[in-house]
Amino acid sequence: MKELKLVAKDTNIFLNKILKKQKNTKLLEVIKYGLFPGGKKIRSKILIDVGYIFNVNYKNLIRVAAAIECIHAYSLIHDDLPCMDNDKLRRGKPTAHVIFGESTAVLAGNSLLTLAFEILSDDKFKISDSIKNQLINLISKCSGHTGVAGGQYLDLSYEKKYVSMKKIIDMQIKKTGMLFSFCCLAPAIIAKKNNLIKKKFKSLGNEIGLLFQISDDLIDLKGKTKHAGKETGKDKKKGKATLIGLLGYKNAIKYKIQLEDKISKKVNYYGNRSKKIKKTINLIANRTK
Ligand code: IPE
Ligand code: IPE
Ligand code: MG
Ligand code: MG
Ligand code: MG
Repeated sequence: MKELKLVAKDTNIFLNKILKKQKNTKLLEVIKYGLFPGGKKIRSKILIDVGYIFNVNYKNLIRVAAAIECIHAYSLIHDDLPCMDNDKLRRGKPTAHVIFGESTAVLAGNSLLTLAFEILSDDKFKISDSIKNQLINLISKCSGHTGVAGGQYLDLSYEKKYVSMKKIIDMQIKKTGMLFSFCCLAPAIIAKKNNLIKKKFKSLGNEIGLLFQISDDLIDLKGKTKHAGKETGKDKKKGKATLIGLLGYKNAIKYKIQLEDKISKKVNYYGNRSKKIKKTINLIANRTK
């Protein structure tokens, strides 16, 4: 998708600029390895698309996108560690711990997480202190024990166990949905929207994230390692709790189609302004990598 590529390019340019200003350290090399050439930047695209609905300044959104991509990159470095999913391939390259060692990968991950806060709290982010604070507060909650880290904990503790549908959805919303939820809520915060709209976009983000994770689980089941850039066929071996595992392939597909439909209907309210996000939602539902 052309527009996704453009968002990816602009986010990478911004990240490059930030990293050029950092003091050179050994960990900086690992941070760069985790960030570049980088992934699809789908979270950033959702942020830009919601920003478009609310007419938010693009330059400001790219800064927020860079912060999200730092947290995402951190979560992947840690997700691949031997103590977690134990993966050796990510984005078509050896995982960070394979190249630099486990302890270095852990520390680079930590540094990427804090880099996100550095990017958002920067004086150069020309936005009111109150909005800055709200964004930093929200991204913290979405990343920590009530968000990504908490979801990752559940994902690992559910391995090889029977887990109910409700619990799988809750786990997937935490590990993956909450970052998407931040992407949908952040533009509403910047545009000073009311609490009702913010609530709607928060849950929209959770659902988009859930959709994203179902697609990821389908890629693991059906996709090829070379195309996905990461080893596929692992979830079953590891006994991961997924909706495919619980409902079966056909029912999981049905659930995914219904979820995409539900999400699309929600954004319809914004008429022409929702065209971009609808395309991205469709891409998320049907992606093969
Ligand atoms: C992979 O995310 C991890 C999940 C949350 C499923 P992406 O598929 O967005 O990874 P990149 O950034 O494009 O590599
Ligand atoms: C990862 O889910 C979610 C994160 C928060 C990193 P997965 O473990 O399924 O992601 P992949 O398949 O390794 O990219
Ligand atoms: Mg995992
Ligand atoms: Mg994994
Ligand atoms: Mg996966």
